[in-house]
Amino acid sequence: MNDGPVDSPGHRVSIRRVRLHEWREVRELRIRAVSDPAASIAFLASLEDEIAREDAFWQSRTADAALGENAAQFIAEADGRWIGTATVLVRSAGERDTLGRVVPMSQADLVGVFVDAANRGAGILGELVAAADAWARGAVGAVGLTLDVHAENLRAQAAYRKLGFEPTGLVLETVSGSEIQMIRAAG
Ligand SMILES: CC(C)(COP(=O)(O)OP(=O)(O)OC[C@H]1O[C@@H](n2cnc3c(N)ncnc32)[C@H](O)[C@@H]1OP(=O)(O)O)[C@@H](O)C(=O)NCCC(=O)NCCS
Repeated sequence: MNDGPVDSPGHRVSIRRVRLHEWREVRELRIRAVSDPAASIAFLASLEDEIAREDAFWQSRTADAALGENAAQFIAEADGRWIGTATVLVRSAGERDTLGRVVPMSQADLVGVFVDAANRGAGILGELVAAADAWARGAVGAVGLTLDVHAENLRAQAAYRKLGFEPTGLVLETVSGSEIQMIRAAG
């Protein structure tokens, strides 16, 4: 399991899994993410949805993200401030993914990806994805990462391609538009 800090030379950024008691920070970062100008093509939930959730929701989500066997949320932290996040969710064959599809075989999905606008273009996404990938391999033996990205979210697509993700060819039409599935097999 890769819960320890990963130093990023030059940026004083560390990458680690969230901790059980950090539900307020998890909520604050999520609210920042869904307030992003790109939020409507990046996240399924809206700002209104997230603001309406009770504390118990964030406590439960954070417990799963911190300790769960099938979920782990990673954050990038710089000088005590959370500046990015990525979550990996493991689905067993027959379970449904975030977009409601039944998955044919076990897979590790990357979701809830966000880097603070001031910190983009600095390689932080790559470090978050590396931590998520290492956890998925170590915890459940995942052989790669899968994700869905909105067809209009060109910045995210470019960022994922740079990290070695490729479209699987599957495109799902949703109420908010087309979602392109991408995969990166374990190297
Ligand atoms: C998606 C996200 C995590 C990527 O992190 P990032 O640090 O911005 O990624 P990078 O800068 O390393 O890579 C983005 C690439 O897209 C390019 N790019 C920027 N704007 C672009 C645009 N409008 N169209 C196409 N490419 C674009 C960048 O130039 C960069 O490529 P380069 O390094 O070759 O120049 C971050 O932008 C983010 O949090 N966005 C808002 C939330 C989001 O979209 N989350 C993903 C949901 S699937």
